[in-house]
Amino acid sequence: MDLMTSLDHDRKSHATVRPLTAEDIPWTRELFTERWGGVVSVSRGVAHDTTALPGFVALLDGERAGVATYRIAGGECELVTLDSVREGAGAGTALVDAVAGAARAGGAARLWLVTTNDNLRALRFYQRYGFDLVAVHRDAVARSRELKPSIPEIGLDGIPLRHELELELPSRLLRLSPTRSPEC
Ligand SMILES: CC(C)(COP(=O)(O)OP(=O)(O)OC[C@H]1O[C@@H](n2cnc3c(N)ncnc32)[C@H](O)[C@@H]1OP(=O)(O)O)[C@@H](O)C(=O)NCCC(=O)NCCS
Repeated sequence: MDLMTSLDHDRKSHATVRPLTAEDIPWTRELFTERWGGVVSVSRGVAHDTTALPGFVALLDGERAGVATYRIAGGECELVTLDSVREGAGAGTALVDAVAGAARAGGAARLWLVTTNDNLRALRFYQRYGFDLVAVHRDAVARSRELKPSIPEIGLDGIPLRHELELELPSRLLRLSPTRSPEC
């Protein structure tokens, strides 16, 4: 089953998605530690233990190709983490499709996320997916560092890591998200 149909993405992918399980945690722990300096993710001043969150794993050729975690609260769904380890093959898109489906199934009226000002690739990816920039939280990363001191001063591409960018998926696109099980 191919999930890359719901939001009119024009490229087909072989990526499939299944729910994150306890067996994936050693792998996600290693990935998040290598990429993000630990399993704690801070957004909007809140620290999340990503190993305790629900999520999805993308598979390509039977191998783990990426992971997304999310949380649903107060009628909203936050995409807390999104990581692809096989970039450009549709894993990221399939994972966001799955989280959008979970958001919708969980009754969330809003799907949102935070990225940082240095993450130009993510900003490109999310906007091309359909997310809209709804807020810039200036100097929010300094507050995040109080909760997670390992967040570096300098981010990707040598860009000072300072601001949180909040994006959300317009509700018309959230309504188009898959309703079927992401199990493939
Ligand atoms: C942002 C990120 C998750 C995107 O994941 P990804 O797996 O590369 O995403 P996709 O493959 O679905 O899409 C990326 C590109 O590949 C293209 N693509 C998708 N399926 C494809 C396929 N089967 N063949 C060729 N290209 C494909 C997409 O159209 C997209 O192209 P575009 O950039 O021209 O729009 C990934 O770059 C990543 O893990 N970054 C590091 C972690 C990070 O910063 N996460 C975000 C934190 S907020």
